[in-house]
Amino acid sequence: MKTVLLVFGTRPEAIKMCPLVNELKKRENLRTVVCVSGQHRQMLDQVLKVFGVEPDYDLSIMKEQQTLFDITVNILERIKAVLEKVQPDVILVHGDTSTTFVTALAGYYLQIPVGHVEAGLRTYNVYSPYPEEFNRQAVGSIAQYHFAPTQTAKDNLIREGKNPHYIYVTGNTAIDALKTTVRSEYTHPELNWAKGSRLIMLTAHRRENLGEPMHQMFRAVRRIMHEHPDVKAIYPIHMNPAVRKTAQEELGNCERIHLIDPLDVLDFHNFLNRSYLLLTDSGGIQEEAPSLGKPVLVMRDTTERPEGIQAGTLKLVGTNEEVIYQNFKTLLENPTVYSQMAHASNPYGDGFACRRIADILERELFA
Ligand code: UD1
Ligand code: UDP
Repeated sequence: MKTVLLVFGTRPEAIKMCPLVNELKKRENLRTVVCVSGQHRQMLDQVLKVFGVEPDYDLSIMKEQQTLFDITVNILERIKAVLEKVQPDVILVHGDTSTTFVTALAGYYLQIPVGHVEAGLRTYNVYSPYPEEFNRQAVGSIAQYHFAPTQTAKDNLIREGKNPHYIYVTGNTAIDALKTTVRSEYTHPELNWAKGSRLIMLTAHRRENLGEPMHQMFRAVRRIMHEHPDVKAIYPIHMNPAVRKTAQEELGNCERIHLIDPLDVLDFHNFLNRSYLLLTDSGGIQEEAPSLGKPVLVMRDTTERPEGIQAGTLKLVGTNEEVIYQNFKTLLENPTVYSQMAHASNPYGDGFACRRIADILERELFA
């Protein structure tokens, strides 16, 4: 019997790790243990509930308006005892959050092998996204096993000199999650409200966009909504108080924009599926939207997900109000441009990434 410890703490990590937890639990020669950092509290718990995952350990580190120092110090201090007690043969972390980085660092300090799920995404600008680009590069240096979602991600890792034997192209587990959530018969009161209108879904949260960039993003949305009476928008606001304040200030008085609490992932995926287009600075949504054939305006200066841009579903528009406004207007007013972006493609895998990762782990751990 070998022990696999999965550690995660934020909403996107949970969405992409819970399907893997459930797959690993089916394997009889593996003991699967889950530790959550609790970097997100409510938004993490929403996901755990949807996937029926009950953590064995919870570091409960979240604080209101936590800094990178708070997260780093608190996880590093609290995770040591868990690693010493569980004594895993491998620790699995996901992506690029502070939970990911600090857990990998702790694994390195105790000389426990680390497996990196969603490895090899890069912008090569450590301030964009911040601090995620540093986090994933650092985890890439520590990890023994690299589970790359795409060939592009694998190529990045090979260029950096990682051992190709330990880089596996698996697809992204986000697609595994999406396969279980989207339903044709799904209904929700908010979708009933939007019926008969083109529905825009909006999300925003990136640290480097807090402040003026976020004001500009929201002002662009407000202008467009004002000019297009046939359009309604739903914005499930991230729980970060800084984001919530800016959203209320810029969008609080628009009657065709509903500002709501974060949706659980089952609801959110079904809202995406019914939407006309999306505006976001999220990473995960850039992976989900191409599968659903939904155009996305990515309100960031860089993306580590070039596959969706190549597929034609994503467009990088930055955070300048005028640029977002013009791109949004074109998509609403020009059906040719819209239909060029609105086609389903699947650059992030076939929905069997978890099975592949579990197979590889069984093979490597018992080699
Ligand atoms: C974090 C990750 C980011 C990821 C994002 C996904 C880091 C440094 N950042 O950013 O990579 O893209 O999650 O959403 O790891 N809050 C709550 N309840 C929650 C969640 C958050 O109240 O369930 C509030 C708290 O006041 C918290 C703040 O939001 O202090 C910010 O959370 P934090 O995890 O520090 O940063 P995110 O911007 O969410
Ligand atoms: N999501 C969700 N509820 C919401 C908004 C987003 O479940 O109200 C999901 C979304 O489908 C995607 C993930 O959360 O899978 C993205 O998380 P987020 O944007 O917080 O982080 P990022 O992907 O940018 O790291």
